[in-house]
Amino acid sequence: MHDRNNETHVKIIQTGTSAQAGIRGARIVAALIREKPDAVLGLATGSSPLPLYEALGGEPLDLSEMRGFSLDEYLGLGSTHKHSYAQVIRREVIHRLGLTPARIHSPDGQTADAALEASEFEARIRAAGGVDIQILGIGSNGHLAFNEPPSAFTSRTRVVELADSTRTDNARFFDSLEDVPTHAITQGLGTISEARHLLLIAHGHRKAEAAALAIEGPVTEQFPASMIQLHPKVTVILDEAAASRLQRV
Ligand code: GLP
Repeated sequence: MHDRNNETHVKIIQTGTSAQAGIRGARIVAALIREKPDAVLGLATGSSPLPLYEALGGEPLDLSEMRGFSLDEYLGLGSTHKHSYAQVIRREVIHRLGLTPARIHSPDGQTADAALEASEFEARIRAAGGVDIQILGIGSNGHLAFNEPPSAFTSRTRVVELADSTRTDNARFFDSLEDVPTHAITQGLGTISEARHLLLIAHGHRKAEAAALAIEGPVTEQFPASMIQLHPKVTVILDEAAASRLQRV
């Protein structure tokens, strides 16, 4: 267990629907880009951030200088594979928002040397000056990116084995459970915590318990998302269902 640095700095925004959550998130990102056109955005996949990406497309904003780094990638899926996260980011973020593809980076899931790819990806984030806003979803088991329980709060970008529950959760995107990769490259919790602002989004009853534990539960590596309580600047956007288990809002 880790001590919270006095009061937690987690700001909670509760909205009625996931679409409204997307609009609130997009406003936060848009404000950053107006101030810093070449801001570095940390990009998450999964369904939770999709309304944010959609709403960001509706903001009157020049995104041509924006840079981005994905959180994670399945090992064994090339960037053109329809279920690779690189492909999801290409479809949902790069194309939707008209971003410059060369400015958006994902780990190579088909690399011959995954450990080397992980450390080089980490170095690329550092060379870009770090992440300004890291968009995050949360796994129902409390994972952030693919940092499964338990994951060290100091962990760096690395190869990980996926939890059975994560493979089952994510099987909905694949033809069958067997098709879900067993390993991934993920930014570590230490890497993620270096982003200057964490923006976590969760929707639906399925995420209510995970959201409550992340925000109000014990800070422990057994529940990776509780790491947010140690970060100086965190915004969590929840729809009504995802906020339903919080003790205090
Ligand atoms: C995946 C991703 C996570 C994401 C999680 C939740 O496992 N690696 O980054 O947060 O799914 O996804 P969803 O938002 O679809 O529930």
